[in-house]
Amino acid sequence: MKYVIGVDLGTSAVKTVLVDPQGKVAFEHSEAYPLSRPQPNWSEQNPEDWVKGTIASLKRLMEVSGAEPSQIDGISFSGQMHGLVLVDGEGQALRPAILWNDTRTTAQCRKIEQALGGKLIDIARNRALEGFTLPKILWVQENEPEVLAKAEVFLLPKDYVRYHLTGDYAMDYSDAAGTLLLDVGAKQWSAEIAEAFNLPLSICPRLVESFDQTGTLLPEIAAASGLLPTTRVYAGGADNACGALGAGILGEGRTMCSIGTSGVVLSYESNKDLNLEGKVHFFNHSEKDAFYIMGVTLAAGHSLTWFKETFAADKSFDELLQGVNEIPAGSSGLLFTPYISGERTPHPDANIRGSFIGMDSGHTLSHFTRAVLEGITFSLRESIEIVRESGKAITEVVAIGGGAKNEAWLQMQADIFGASIIKLESEQGPAMGAAMLAAYGAGWFGSLGECAEAFIRPAEVYTPNAEQAALYDGIFALYQDVYTQTRELNGKLASYRK
Ligand code: XUL
Repeated sequence: MKYVIGVDLGTSAVKTVLVDPQGKVAFEHSEAYPLSRPQPNWSEQNPEDWVKGTIASLKRLMEVSGAEPSQIDGISFSGQMHGLVLVDGEGQALRPAILWNDTRTTAQCRKIEQALGGKLIDIARNRALEGFTLPKILWVQENEPEVLAKAEVFLLPKDYVRYHLTGDYAMDYSDAAGTLLLDVGAKQWSAEIAEAFNLPLSICPRLVESFDQTGTLLPEIAAASGLLPTTRVYAGGADNACGALGAGILGEGRTMCSIGTSGVVLSYESNKDLNLEGKVHFFNHSEKDAFYIMGVTLAAGHSLTWFKETFAADKSFDELLQGVNEIPAGSSGLLFTPYISGERTPHPDANIRGSFIGMDSGHTLSHFTRAVLEGITFSLRESIEIVRESGKAITEVVAIGGGAKNEAWLQMQADIFGASIIKLESEQGPAMGAAMLAAYGAGWFGSLGECAEAFIRPAEVYTPNAEQAALYDGIFALYQDVYTQTRELNGKLASYRK
């Protein structure tokens, strides 16, 4: 038997999966690492933790699965997007990585808009949002110029890990698209954007396709992880592009909803000139010359984790979610907005914060839990509506991530989105997409589409219940009002955040 390995470098952990030519996961393993929030709006990680975690996870995968190192045909990656890693001439990170959910860069976003105006959407195809990489580079330029001066190159999280595994600097288009420095349509770094901020183009790494081979394992890494130094390493892609691959989003009309720490609604796009004026993200896919549009809820799974840790730390997720089916749709008048870390789609606003509206002395923990699930799902429906407004019919959505693991939540997605929700037989999220890139790169299949045919099997379909869907349509309109009604108040409260 031969295998490929998919490595998904997430925000809370790195997950490795060992996958056979039928797409079956023979073994998987995760290693967690910490995230630090040294100041309000900041979110950082130590890049060395990612490297250590990845090597430890690969070692465990090889030890426990019993696979022979010679059976591994290739490794590829999926990574949390946008995180800035500045690297010196020796390949060492110069400061902690500034992550996708760090929103310290509002001033830098305004500066980018002022300097580039409409050119930003024309070239980078996206708005300046706090989470993206260029605003983070400009923050370092303004606040830690001595650090930027020492930087030889900037990398994204998975590219830093891959560099440490292979000694080769590279970045694939799907991840480069999230930097705001890429000319997304032309697939090259934008000299115009870099020059506007006095950044030398030399800090941008070599661009590659997600399925391109980017070296083999360094001998010391091979020894530490139980693999061979001849093991081929393929570039990999952004976690959302890989999630889309693993969900079979490889053709027009295909849409997925992924609920991890963040939540995304992502739809395949073949028209490279589609211009939605930055209302949703427009990124390169990890399939050659394909694209996707995507709306992002910053704190999706994170809202639920925060809620559990803060109000029900003694319960498991299963225990917490057990009661939600007994609570009527609409949580008896309780509404939650998941803006606990600010928001991206449809409100690019780092200052907005979450709310529970309509609290009543009759509400129980289960009401609050259901309201949290509903609020996250309403937020994702806002992205669904933008995609629908672009002319795409969304009648079917593939669910992946934590949101695909709970029956009540799957039915809730069907009712709130007004679309059938498809649950997959073996749902591995972005890690499966990473494995698919290695499988295609290694020549197991003639195309990523063929690989998807072999690897991905639907297990269940949840169809909208007409009555619940109509009820949710009414509550969704109220949910949409909460943003406008609380924006000013949250702006005033911002100075009290410590
Ligand atoms: C996408 C985004 C998040 C991260 C999560 O733009 O910021 O979905 O990729 O890892």
